[in-house]
Amino acid sequence: MVVSSNNGHYDWAKEVKEFDETKAGVKGLVDAGVTKLPRLFVHPPESLQSRPKLDGVPLDLPTIDLQGLGARRSEVVEEIRKAAQEWGFFRIVNHGVPLQTMDAMLEAVKRFHEQPTEEKMAWYSSDVRKMVKLNSSLPSRENDPASWRDILSCNFSDDQLQPEDLPSACRKELQQYVKYMIELREIMAELLSEALGLPSDYLSNIECMKSEAVACLYYPKCPEPEKTLGTPKHADTTFLTLLMQDSTGGLQILHDDHWIDVPPVHGALIANIGDLMQIISNDKFISVEHRVVAQPVGPRISVACFFTPSLKAGAKPFGPIKELLSDENPAVYREFMFREYTNTTNKRRESRVGIASLQDSMNCSLILLEFVTHLLIFPCQCNKNML
Ligand code: OGA
Ligand code: NI
Repeated sequence: MVVSSNNGHYDWAKEVKEFDETKAGVKGLVDAGVTKLPRLFVHPPESLQSRPKLDGVPLDLPTIDLQGLGARRSEVVEEIRKAAQEWGFFRIVNHGVPLQTMDAMLEAVKRFHEQPTEEKMAWYSSDVRKMVKLNSSLPSRENDPASWRDILSCNFSDDQLQPEDLPSACRKELQQYVKYMIELREIMAELLSEALGLPSDYLSNIECMKSEAVACLYYPKCPEPEKTLGTPKHADTTFLTLLMQDSTGGLQILHDDHWIDVPPVHGALIANIGDLMQIISNDKFISVEHRVVAQPVGPRISVACFFTPSLKAGAKPFGPIKELLSDENPAVYREFMFREYTNTTNKRRESRVGIASLQDSMNCSLILLEFVTHLLIFPCQCNKNML
């Protein structure tokens, strides 16, 4: 299939294959000294546009301070409710993850990606069954461009992954970081339950966030950043994502139809509501689109922890939480199995895909497809508004 891009015509499948076979990722291109962006990475101008806010009022996402949670609980719950409803994204400070653990994790991710290519290659894989693997953001939809980043993804199913399965370059730091992510997830599960007006243990009991996929992201400096993206526009398909970014910047969220920068704040974490949480909250909380712009400086390091259901919960149907429904607030989505959800996401991809196997259906980081017009997947068949 010959593709027309801004840089002329090229054989998309051949370029994907050749790049994939190097197993050296985007970092490999930078190491080889590329000064011009390879065609495969050129994004169409409409994806690169920003829609700046015209009235010039700089907007920033809300910050939730968890300090002294015991005494300020109802205030914090109310702030989270508002942030999850109006922004879908918020910063968290005083979250209990030590600064040292965060900085050590960022350093370890850099160390992993900066190992000699020959050592790193052993982790490079497109096998969906592998719990730990390295790959690049290759497009899964035929003719789509690739993105300017490499990913080490580690899937902790039901919070479990054997330490020896983790790369030694970042094993210790990753284990430590995940331990704190799990602790913070428990706190967030309680606060989000309360923000929905449910008992504190509701989300924890339904085990909707009991597994985590940790994406250790490396965005090399880019020779022509204005032509590509680090992460294209997408919404996370998770229940909840907790993100740590280094001091480089580049993350943007689409708020009220404007791209808003999310500047890094040392020590803060970013939480965002995923599609599944929007579905079970029956649209009370929103899953918001975001992206990472490519930059002439780098590398930029970030770590995204995507929370998804436990194995047991994955075997039961999910849908809008019954306690939240009423005549005035009927279900917007029908019930579905988690597997059906991931299969649907896959099918939608495969319908236009030649290399779907390069992607992992469970790794939400990799589900970066604009055509998975999120949340239109499960409209409730009996919802009058949708008929
Ligand atoms: C993602 C994502 C943002 C970042 O991987 O889903 O949105 O800052 N990453 O790397
Ligand atoms: Ni994301």
